[in-house]
Amino acid sequence: MFSGRVAVVTGSAQGLGKVFSGVLLERGSKVCISDVNQSELEKTYKEFKSKYAENVISQQCDVTDSEQLKEVFRKTKDTYGQLDLVVNNAGIVNEKNWQQCIDVNLNGTIRGTMLGMEYMRKDKGGKGGLILNMSSLAGIFPVNYTPAYAASKHGVIGYTRSWSMHPDVVNNGVRLVCLCPAFVDTDMIKMDDDSKFVGTDLAQQVIEKFGIMSTDHIIPVFVNAIEDEENNGSVISITLKGANKIPLPMP
Ligand SMILES: NC(=O)c1ccc[n+]([C@@H]2O[C@H](COP(=O)([O-])OP(=O)(O)OC[C@H]3O[C@@H](n4cnc5c(N)ncnc54)[C@H](O)[C@@H]3O)[C@@H](O)[C@H]2O)c1
Repeated sequence: MFSGRVAVVTGSAQGLGKVFSGVLLERGSKVCISDVNQSELEKTYKEFKSKYAENVISQQCDVTDSEQLKEVFRKTKDTYGQLDLVVNNAGIVNEKNWQQCIDVNLNGTIRGTMLGMEYMRKDKGGKGGLILNMSSLAGIFPVNYTPAYAASKHGVIGYTRSWSMHPDVVNNGVRLVCLCPAFVDTDMIKMDDDSKFVGTDLAQQVIEKFGIMSTDHIIPVFVNAIEDEENNGSVISITLKGANKIPLPMP
């Protein structure tokens, strides 16, 4: 399932993207790591390269820049000859610069999803594959201290679910899945920058209520989404209590 498969992971210099890339490499996949943060990307690349040699490549990429993202896909296909998995993981919280928040989280995911379909659809020369989009519990529930972040993550769910129901995509072997974790122990939830939240105190109260998961808590759900080839269109919430598929609300 993992051995010899080829993946692109955005925002993978640190946090969940780095963890996901490590999980794939450990299991024998080939991974193109990419991030807007060049220095952190370089460090992560060196770390992975020493363990996984030719199975990892790296390409700096800001997901708000279509040309840079296209280059990630081009380089991956040129190097490894195929593409099987796209993890649209790059994300930020920034309520002051809400335009950037939407552009990275939602538009970046749309760009990566479109490229993923272009490279993996069987009618376009691919072999089928999985597009795994990072949403959040903030994509399912309203969040009063991050309205723009919540909007971006709601958008990721709507976009992902919509394509997963398109016959041209389903019939050409591409599946799409959304992961929606609650708070995970990464830099994203650090209270280090007052542009992140509209009310750090509100954020702190909710974090205390839900608790913080380790990145390890997300790994089995990530692995299962890849292994379960019947899984298309699911939106999976992940909290300290476990993982659940969120049913599609029908009118
Ligand atoms: N940590 C959480 O509590 C949590 C919860 C739910 C969902 N998520 C989602 O998980 C994903 C990963 O977040 P994380 O928690 O690992 O955060 P993180 O801040 O540790 O990592 C995010 C990575 O994305 C990169 N990035 C930011 N802007 C980018 C851009 N324009 N182009 C390319 N890369 C960019 C950053 O440099 C960083 O390496 C995000 O989509 C986030 O919204 C996180």
